Formats: sequence, C-alpha cells, structure tokens
Amino acid sequence: MESAIAEHLRVERVHPRRKPDTFHPPYPSFSARFDPAVEQVVMAYLGVQYRAAQPPPVVAEALAELDAAVDHAPDHHDRARYVDEAGYTTVLTILYWTDPAEYDRWTRARGAWTGPHHRTPDAGFFSEVVRPTVRRFETLFSSDRTEGVSVAAGKLSGEIHEHGYWGGARDRLPLGQTDRLEPSGELAAETDPETGVVTVRPQGNLCLIRSGQEWTETEGDERALYLGDVEPVLRAGMDFLRDEGRAIGCYANRYVRVTDETGAETDKSFGLSWWHSLADLEAWAESHPTHVAIFRAAMKYLSTMGPAAKVRLYHEITVTDAGQQEFRYLGCHDRTGLLRAG
Ligand code: HEM
Repeated sequence: MESAIAEHLRVERVHPRRKPDTFHPPYPSFSARFDPAVEQVVMAYLGVQYRAAQPPPVVAEALAELDAAVDHAPDHHDRARYVDEAGYTTVLTILYWTDPAEYDRWTRARGAWTGPHHRTPDAGFFSEVVRPTVRRFETLFSSDRTEGVSVAAGKLSGEIHEHGYWGGARDRLPLGQTDRLEPSGELAAETDPETGVVTVRPQGNLCLIRSGQEWTETEGDERALYLGDVEPVLRAGMDFLRDEGRAIGCYANRYVRVTDETGAETDKSFGLSWWHSLADLEAWAESHPTHVAIFRAAMKYLSTMGPAAKVRLYHEITVTDAGQQEFRYLGCHDRTGLLRAG
C-alpha cells in the first residue's frame, strides 16, 4: 500500500493522520496520480438553464459552440443534466485543464460563457470555475476507472492507506498535512449594471465536492440493491443538502445525471456541492443520517464484493484559495448555485 499523497507532495506532517499506519482499510481504493510537472489544474462548471419544457434554440447553439473542436481544448470534459429547485432544467458541461494558461487562452479565443452574445430572456448562463493547485484537492476511487479531473491525470496510484474512516479526505489532501484549511471571508454578490453579469466574490478555503456513482455494469440483485435501496437514500441526502443545507454550511447542492453525446441519460450520477468549509462537509458526511446510512451500506457492500463490485464510486474534494475562484451568472434565477449564498 502507498500514501494517497504523491511522493513529491509529501512533507513532514504538522497534523497527524486520524488513523495510525497499522490501520488496514477494509477494501481497496485508489487516488489519481498527476505528472509532477502539473502544478495547478482548472475545474470549470459551465451551466445553461431554461424554464421551458423544450430547450430554446439558444441552448443547442451554445452547447454546439462548446463542443466544436478548438485550440487549447480541455484535457477532459463531460456533460450532465438536472432540474433544479426552482424547476429550471440545467445542462452542465464540466471541463478540466492541467495547465491554467491553456484555459485562459481557450477562454480568450471563444469569449466568456457569460459574455454579451449569451444575453437572452430564454436562458441563463453561469460559470463556476476554480483553479486549485495540486496540493488543494484529493481524489478517491473504489475501482480503476477514472472520472472527472482524474481522467486528465491519466494515472492512478496503487492501493492507498488513507481511506475507509472519517477524516480520510483531510488526510489525503496534501495541504492538510500542514494546514487546517479553515475558511475566511464571506461570499458576496455584485451585479454589473452594464453587462448584467452577477459576480460572486470569493471566500478563502471554499470547499467543492464532486461525488460520483456508476452502475452501468450492474445486473440482477446488485442493480436492484443499488437502485432500490441505495439510490433513494442518496437522493434524500441530496434533497436535504439542496433544500436545507444552508444551515449546516452547504451553499448549494446539485444531484445530476451524466448524459452521453446524444443527450441521453447514462447510468452515472454525481452530487456536486459548494461548502463554507471542509469541516462542514466532513461533519455532514460523518453525522447526517442519509450519508451515514449510505456509507454503512457501501462499506458492507465493498467489503463483501471487493474488486468484483460493479457499482463504482469516486469523488474529488477541493479546497480553494480565494484567488483561485471565479463565479459569474448571466440571466440566472436568484437561487442558482452560489447566488443563494451571496
Ligand atoms: C451512493 C452514493 C454514496 C456512497 C455509497 C458513499 C459512500 C461513502 C464511503 C464508503 C465513504 C468512505 C470512503 C473511504 O474513505 O474509503 C464516503 C466518504 C465520503 N463521502 Fe460519500 N457516498 C456517497 C455519496 C456521497 C455524496 C453525494 C457526497 C457529497 C456530496 C458524499 C460525501 C462524502 C465525503 C465528504 C466523504 C469523506 C468523509 C471523510 O473522509 O471524512 N458522499 N462515502
């Protein structure tokens, strides 16, 4: 077994791990391994929302523009859809770069997603972009199939030590070795009267989680177990965070379904949420009945099935510096994403 923290990011710990070296996780898990030359990545969530039953033409046009082959293309991207709490269908395109300069060139070449060409009463556009250094995020996989930012890394570790217990995420974060990652400042929204773009001012150590599930290859009892017993509990937890999360530090939560190139739903979903702090996210994971229930069910299932398990789980948790965040909303309703927090 090896540490979740790549060798070149390991330093002498100020904050010890929650579990000693003798702890043996009950099932295998893996973390992404980036080339040491990669110092910082970009995670861009570009959304378009509409109220109508059918997408207005501007939505298809904007997505086609995003999909067109261009220079400085992202290292990986995927797409997902959900209906939010205000009843707006939202198409989310998630893009990852392993070189922020490439992202800047890409944006300059095509114009901002919330630029004037997207100003229309038919749809709202938003971009939620963070550019963390590699010391500021951790990844966890229950299988060897990568998703999200880890696809851009292209490589996984061997079996890692730091998982299978509460506090594992913090122990996997390279910066967590020396820093408590406490939040500072407050989010605040400001509207530019000329462009109509609302910008949300960043906050220190804002936390983001993308926590994904895939059940493509499950069948029979295993599929019934996931869809009948686990998914409804997950959905209840996601609804709780979306509707009541503010009181416990969750600014916004989206439970989304990954779609394929034709727009059809796949057997993949993920929860995507923005948090006031890593500590608030940890507290929810460790103590909220919905996550405790799915955690227990998953521990039992993964321990029994081991690598033969066909439900695949992964997540990426990022704690971003205020200077590494950019949130913009054009024509969106006032409960969209971080607008609810500003
Ligand atoms: C079917 C869905 C899910 C299952 C089965 C599940 C199960 C688990 C398991 C087994 C762990 C421990 C992983 C390890 O260390 O080996 C874990 C950790 C965690 N999960 Fe989930 N989870 C699910 C969805 C979610 C979602 C949607 C979120 C948040 C949006 C979330 C937040 C967390 C966090 C923050 C941790 C890390 C806790 C810590 O290390 O202290 N989970 N989950």
